[in-house]
Amino acid sequence: MYTQSFLQSAPAATGAAAPLVAQDAQKQAAFDARISADGRIEPQDWMPAAYRKTLVRQISQHAHSEIVGMQPEGNWITRAPSLKRKCILIAKVQDECGHGLYLYSAAETLGVGRDQLLADLHSGKAKYSSIFNYPTLSWADVGVIGWLVDGAAIMNQIPLCRCSYGPYARAMIRVCKEESFHQRQGFEALLVLMQGTAEQRAMVQDSVNRFWWKCLAMFGPPDADSPHSAQAAHWGIKRVGNDELRQKFIDATAAQAQVLGVSLPDPELKWNEVRGHYDYGAIDWDEFWATVGGNGPCNKERLATRVKAHHDGQWVRDAALAHARKVQQRQRKGAA
Ligand SMILES: [Fe+2]
Ligand SMILES: [Fe+2]
Repeated sequence: MYTQSFLQSAPAATGAAAPLVAQDAQKQAAFDARISADGRIEPQDWMPAAYRKTLVRQISQHAHSEIVGMQPEGNWITRAPSLKRKCILIAKVQDECGHGLYLYSAAETLGVGRDQLLADLHSGKAKYSSIFNYPTLSWADVGVIGWLVDGAAIMNQIPLCRCSYGPYARAMIRVCKEESFHQRQGFEALLVLMQGTAEQRAMVQDSVNRFWWKCLAMFGPPDADSPHSAQAAHWGIKRVGNDELRQKFIDATAAQAQVLGVSLPDPELKWNEVRGHYDYGAIDWDEFWATVGGNGPCNKERLATRVKAHHDGQWVRDAALAHARKVQQRQRKGAA
């Protein structure tokens, strides 16, 4: 829930309305000046209600994606092919949980409680990245998620280190460093598989075929169909457009695919000398929107697992609160 003190005050319907409006105009001007000077907005600063709302939505969606994203890979921890791969995967899945924590904390600085954020996720009101609504069918999927999904996430997230909202920008610096490790471990795991048997190589190719287009959709709809992008760019929240980020990802990944020896499942993918970029085929946005709308193959399973984990963990939260109360009581007694 938003607390009243964090909300932009609406003009009052009394004689005090005029000074209030003038005050807000002054605050708005100071905010605009800070944004155009490429300064940072901090939690205690005044900000327009729409800026706060956009950030709460974006940061919480991001946090939800991190913790739901633990599920498809978490499914493979018990089936990792070696102790080394199991240790790496456990560390990676833990990192994603940590990213969720940094981001929920950043969202909380905007005046919204974690209970509310989680309630919105659990009721289906809040979204998370649709890439996590697809199943992980083979061990190669773990490598491909690292290489392609974390790779796409890095492209999206590096510009967020310069986001105008201070707590989000600072959280993203550490997140990006860890994502970079995730991407490399995925690529390395695939490189080893590609040097293995014909079955292992086929498993990698099958996984790339299933994930490639979904990763391209992770950058969001084309800028022309993304009405909120212009406002987010104006506020310094979004620094680079969806199409430019997607193109950067394709250009970087096409070269890496050659090193791996896999083909990317797009007959129209080819280097364009004039543009200095790869051309690529059309993305199936109908499938993307169907998955965002709740009709992907794993939406229900992911949400049910998340809600169950939350309920199963209730005793831990209760115990932590009871312990904190006891410590407080002891401190009070000691002080008395
Ligand atoms: Fe992450
Ligand atoms: Fe990651």
